[in-house]
Amino acid sequence: MTAPEITLNNGVRIPQLGLGIWQASPEETERIVRYAIAEAGYRHIDGAKAYGNEEALGAGVRASGVPREEVFVTTKLWPTEFGHDEALAALDASLDRLGFDYVDLYLLHWPNQDDAKRVETWLALEEALAAGKARAIGVANHEPHHLADLLEGGSVVPAVNQIELHPALPQRELRALDASHGIVTQAWSPLGGGPTTPWGRLNPHGTALRENVVLAEIARRHGRSPVQIILRWHIQQGVVAIPKSVTEDRVAQNIDVFDFELSAEDLEAIAGLEVPDGAGRTGTHPDDASF
Ligand SMILES: NC(=O)c1ccc[n+]([C@@H]2O[C@H](COP(=O)([O-])OP(=O)(O)OC[C@H]3O[C@@H](n4cnc5c(N)ncnc54)[C@H](OP(=O)(O)O)[C@@H]3O)[C@@H](O)[C@H]2O)c1
Repeated sequence: MTAPEITLNNGVRIPQLGLGIWQASPEETERIVRYAIAEAGYRHIDGAKAYGNEEALGAGVRASGVPREEVFVTTKLWPTEFGHDEALAALDASLDRLGFDYVDLYLLHWPNQDDAKRVETWLALEEALAAGKARAIGVANHEPHHLADLLEGGSVVPAVNQIELHPALPQRELRALDASHGIVTQAWSPLGGGPTTPWGRLNPHGTALRENVVLAEIARRHGRSPVQIILRWHIQQGVVAIPKSVTEDRVAQNIDVFDFELSAEDLEAIAGLEVPDGAGRTGTHPDDASF
């Protein structure tokens, strides 16, 4: 199955469902990226320098046999490499590891706590965009005040804001703010995440969400898995989702969500899975993260 595309604010098109590869070893990454593209129909892979598997990502794309220009590849800049010159050098190093001339999307991975440096870094990404090293540039984990800094200090509106988002943390306000600026929201940990969080803590939420009885009942009625119900929920809200799996049948299952529709009642029941006060968050709040 192939995912439909969404048009970003600079006209570049992004497949609405991609493969996440955080916590995948290089060996797993090359294998699963090849499988996802060549066998399961994926055309979008979400990588990052910090995941330590950029070489394997590039190798997996090449091994798929699908032309580079048909696959949408993201990588990200880690905050310790913020700064104008540092950012441009980090992108060149990522491109070297990937073995590509360009990435489709380059993201600021976390906002960092230094506002001036973040804006300086964003201006470097604007240069990389103009130089054709990235077809689109965007951000991750940006709260409203982080976005405001970039909108004021930069001349390119981020194409994407990639944030933690799943039924337990639906992020309604941030999604509405993104949309008001023409920024596409991407969901990380769209399934509630893996066994550990980005900070290495145990994450009880992911399994709990995937085993939730409300989702199980909706899944039963549609003849689907609870994970497919969660992914369909993302798709019907116009969000781009990047579920991670290194397991082939799960990777195939996760993109098989474009031939059924959740009803208004289904959506209402899933809305009830929100954990109040943002307590469904698995990772650290961006305002509390520093690197
Ligand atoms: N920008 C950021 O700061 C940021 C932060 C975190 C993540 N991300 C990106 O978002 C991607 C996804 O987030 P995530 O990896 O945290 O979590 P996720 O995609 O919500 O969940 C991944 C977990 O779900 C399991 N899984 C996947 N498909 C399944 C299925 N069909 N049935 C049952 N279990 C299934 C995976 O297991 P197996 O792999 O063992 O199959 C893995 O343990 C990451 O890989 C990364 O690319 C970005």
